[in-house]
Amino acid sequence: MMNALVFPTPADAAQGCAGALRALIDQAIAERGIARVAVSGGSTPKLMFDALARMELDWRKIDWFWVDERCVPPDHELSNYAMTARHLFDPAGVPPDRIHRVRGELPPDEALEAYLDEIARVFESPYPEFDAVQLGLGADAHTASLFPGEPRIEEIGGVAAAVHVEKLDQWRVTLLPEALFAARARLVLATGADKASAVSRIAYDLLNPLELPGQLLLAPGAPSVFYLDEAAAADLERQ
Ligand code: 6PG
Repeated sequence: MMNALVFPTPADAAQGCAGALRALIDQAIAERGIARVAVSGGSTPKLMFDALARMELDWRKIDWFWVDERCVPPDHELSNYAMTARHLFDPAGVPPDRIHRVRGELPPDEALEAYLDEIARVFESPYPEFDAVQLGLGADAHTASLFPGEPRIEEIGGVAAAVHVEKLDQWRVTLLPEALFAARARLVLATGADKASAVSRIAYDLLNPLELPGQLLLAPGAPSVFYLDEAAAADLERQ
């Protein structure tokens, strides 16, 4: 079952998701002294990062990682790091030593190894337990960089992988289901009419995460909260 919160506009959904992320960060800092978060890229999180940057947070105590990154240099227009820096790190003044980016400028297998090393260093374990993971959803129902047909979706074990996305002819480094499931919380932000079909398909179609990777986010042992605007929720039945 999908746990969805529906907001009137994309800005409202972004604000709702930012507020929830902030509460999870505050809770992690209160309980463990540090918060470890993995965020997504693409375009949808921009408004959420803008909202988060305006909030009072203890930026020295938050470690930032990525759910997925495109294998491009950090100043490239497709870099998820660059987008996050513009919308969150620069305006909020996040200390650089708290930013654990995927080194997309390296060959994909080296970027993956470096990212796994960084995760193991910061978590003092190869198996990360993020306090919160923020995900998105593609119009084709992909989440993270787990696109329909990606065999790693069904693989048990593994924290992250370098994957070649055929339809974009692009290499990416992505967290794998095990790392997403191990997180203490998952927030999914999806807005806009182009996401409506993917949202309803993952909610109502027969379970087949290999073809509908977003269904991973409905796993009963690791449920997610979806932050949707009305356009993205248009094909969900009203409760
Ligand atoms: C990425 C993302 C990806 C994203 C979806 C939605 O690097 O592309 O992390 O998984 O969440 O593709 O992207 P949009 O927000 O651009 O629609």
